[in-house]
Amino acid sequence: MLIKKVEDICNRQVEREGYSSNLYLAMASWAEVNGYAGVAQWLFVQAEEEKLHMLKFVKYINERGGKSVIPAFKKPPEDFKSIDELFKEVLKHEQFVTASINEIVALTLEVKDFNTYNFLQWFVMEQVEEESSAQAILDKLRLVGKNNLYQFDRDIMSLRAPSAQTQSAE
Ligand SMILES: [Fe+2]
Ligand SMILES: [Fe+2]
Repeated sequence: MLIKKVEDICNRQVEREGYSSNLYLAMASWAEVNGYAGVAQWLFVQAEEEKLHMLKFVKYINERGGKSVIPAFKKPPEDFKSIDELFKEVLKHEQFVTASINEIVALTLEVKDFNTYNFLQWFVMEQVEEESSAQAILDKLRLVGKNNLYQFDRDIMSLRAPSAQTQSAE
């Protein structure tokens, strides 16, 4: 049985994962209408993954005798300055999510909720992956420079770690 404090903070994470999904969907849409088909594809896949993260929390809360509440989501931005700025936003957002997950981990230790602590370990590892893949894309962008976004856009899907895809399908 989840204690109220843990249930509430897990519900906060339902909102944050759902918002992440919408944020990446908004970014994907912007990339698509601006002619970046590869970037759009990467972001559409990312948005689906975030939806699965939200579902993991929804199911876990309910399974542990809590009640997950599906919230309204804040509207994500609809315009982005450039591909570079967009991926800086992705990294910043993932760092925010990592901090958020860590906060839940800290609470579970404080209240000795080892079941939830264990459930969260998948997310702890996932965040390592998420931050490193955003960083790898920013590194690649720096290498190709502004003048070769065509090549970057063509190749971006190959930067997606195959393990990340199978993990998210769990
Ligand atoms: Fe996530
Ligand atoms: Fe993420």
